[in-house]
Amino acid sequence: MSRISETQWIWRDGQFVPWADATIHVLSHSVQFGSSAFEGVRCYNTPKGPAIFRLREHLERLLHSCKIYRMDVKYTIDELIAASRELVVRNNVESCYIRPMVVRGYGTAGMVPIGSPIEVYLPCWPWGAYLGDEALDAGVDACVSSWQRVQPNTIPAMAKIAGNYLSGQLIKMEALANGYAEGIALSPSGMVGEGSGQNVFVVSNGTLLTGPLDGSILGGITRASIIQIAQDLGIPTKEFHIPREMLYMADEVFFTGTAAELTPVRSIDKIQIGAGKVGPITKQLQQQYLGIAKGTVEDRHGWLTHCK
Ligand SMILES: Cc1ncc(COP(=O)(O)O)c(C=O)c1O
Repeated sequence: MSRISETQWIWRDGQFVPWADATIHVLSHSVQFGSSAFEGVRCYNTPKGPAIFRLREHLERLLHSCKIYRMDVKYTIDELIAASRELVVRNNVESCYIRPMVVRGYGTAGMVPIGSPIEVYLPCWPWGAYLGDEALDAGVDACVSSWQRVQPNTIPAMAKIAGNYLSGQLIKMEALANGYAEGIALSPSGMVGEGSGQNVFVVSNGTLLTGPLDGSILGGITRASIIQIAQDLGIPTKEFHIPREMLYMADEVFFTGTAAELTPVRSIDKIQIGAGKVGPITKQLQQQYLGIAKGTVEDRHGWLTHCK
């Protein structure tokens, strides 16, 4: 497992503080009750310098997560964009992972969060391929998890909140314990849900399929980007509830996520997917996605925020 490699500065509520000083109290509400909202955003090293991929959409999702949980953030998206750009420049990193966090701090006793101060942090650090260096080329071996995703109208799956990741931790730890790189959790209805931190796509007879936003998965920004790229390339795409067996029957399967980028899946539950190697549609989408993110393919949708 990769360790965090420290950078120099973390933005905290309007100021840059040294990495080691960005601490919170052990009795902060978010520590006790898992109530921090967060994001994961990648900044890529492009020919025009560091550029953050779909920063505005990530910050919009962050503020939506906060809204659902009645957390008032006193910064606008444009202020957070400016702070993120400065963060990358100050830390002198070319590519990195940015982890915006809105934390309910120390103040009130008990579970009711109202009254605890709201603190906003922007840390960043260099981070390579999430599922290992080989994963993007060779694909990974995955399993269907014995843990399902949440039922709609229990814990909101579309909010990216720390507490939701208890589910992700169980899925991921079980997969690793059983020798797989990643687990795919089914939705409460038994259809394909998502990975511990990724959305899932299937290619079947030339059509790209992914599950709908039905209250049991996160609305991934990479997922939306891949659907857009597929549309640009004329690849037919459908959103519908995918039965588990279609995973095994698929020609190609891949994960999408900011951390995982577009990672092919070569087997599920030890059943080979398609030819057991990266399929042609996966490859095409991956090349386009990473090409746009790294500035080597035209940024035709305005997805990059340049930092300098
Ligand atoms: C549970 C879950 N699903 C899907 C995703 C993919 O989302 P995105 O593409 O916005 O990173 C993530 C990552 O944030 C996640 O944690």
